[in-house]
Amino acid sequence: MHSAISTVMVEPLDPSELPEVIALLERAGLPGAVAGVARYLRWQPDGAWRVRIDGALAGTVTLLRYGHVGFVGCMAVDDAHRSRGVGRRLLEHAHAAGRRAGITTFLLEATAAGRPLYDKLGYVDEYETWNVARPGTAADPSALDDLSADRGEILALDQRATGSSRDVMIHGLLREQRGARARGDTLTGYGLVVGGRLGPVVARDPGAGRALIDRLAPFATFASIPVPNEAAVAAFAANGFAHVRSLRRMRLGPPIATPGWLWALASPGAG
Ligand SMILES: CC(C)(COP(=O)(O)OP(=O)(O)OC[C@H]1O[C@@H](n2cnc3c(N)ncnc32)[C@H](O)[C@@H]1OP(=O)(O)O)[C@@H](O)C(=O)NCCC(=O)NCCS
Repeated sequence: MHSAISTVMVEPLDPSELPEVIALLERAGLPGAVAGVARYLRWQPDGAWRVRIDGALAGTVTLLRYGHVGFVGCMAVDDAHRSRGVGRRLLEHAHAAGRRAGITTFLLEATAAGRPLYDKLGYVDEYETWNVARPGTAADPSALDDLSADRGEILALDQRATGSSRDVMIHGLLREQRGARARGDTLTGYGLVVGGRLGPVVARDPGAGRALIDRLAPFATFASIPVPNEAAVAAFAANGFAHVRSLRRMRLGPPIATPGWLWALASPGAG
């Protein structure tokens, strides 16, 4: 056990540091964070921090601000510096910045390694999420639809589904990625494919959710799904996706009421 480090400085992450951050996240075994961190920084340049120890990048955290909800991601400390309070310093720094911006509830997807830290800071369990994957390759997503013309309806549906304003993420994704929509008289669901990942997917009814997963599955090989949504678990299984890793959705602050319309997460670092 190392001694606690009392003097670490938590500072904003600069885009020029991304290669070092990605190497750290790879070493820490967080492939979702590796794939997402450049996007998070692009969407919200003032929502990522890092610690350097003796010049080397030693830890990172990101926080996406969704109105009064903050989503924590990319939480990692280099093996050589663990159990010395660096993770705690990073997370408390992100909490303080978030609270100054009006965040009252923080959410995250916890790995088993992260849980002791989150427990200590007062996070409570919400539900289990699964990373799932299927063998084979993903078809070219340029065959899917550009959903940017539906932005207003998508933002409104997503807000009802998640009880938060994930505008910063959805604006970013709709500019760059393709997907599919489900419609009755109004929009009943939407889903996107982002670099081989199927998600986010939001649907108001089981028919819409199943149709979206069936439509998008050939264009993706992995996803993160909320296990309480049994119809989502069944739809992914029917499309050949199998369980890879279990995570826990955890929460700090008042609960956010949601109707269970989330079929797939955007990513473990973005909710
Ligand atoms: C999770 C992680 C970031 C924690 O970083 P860290 O710098 O080791 O955490 P800290 O030293 O600040 O620990 C915070 C508290 O949790 C406790 N703690 C940390 N790891 C623990 C463990 N394995 N078992 C029990 N308690 C533990 C510490 O005792 C500390 O409590 P204290 O401040 O009261 O002494 C780090 O383990 C990591 O990068 N893991 C791999 C990547 C990962 O899974 N990240 C989480 C993604 S959700």
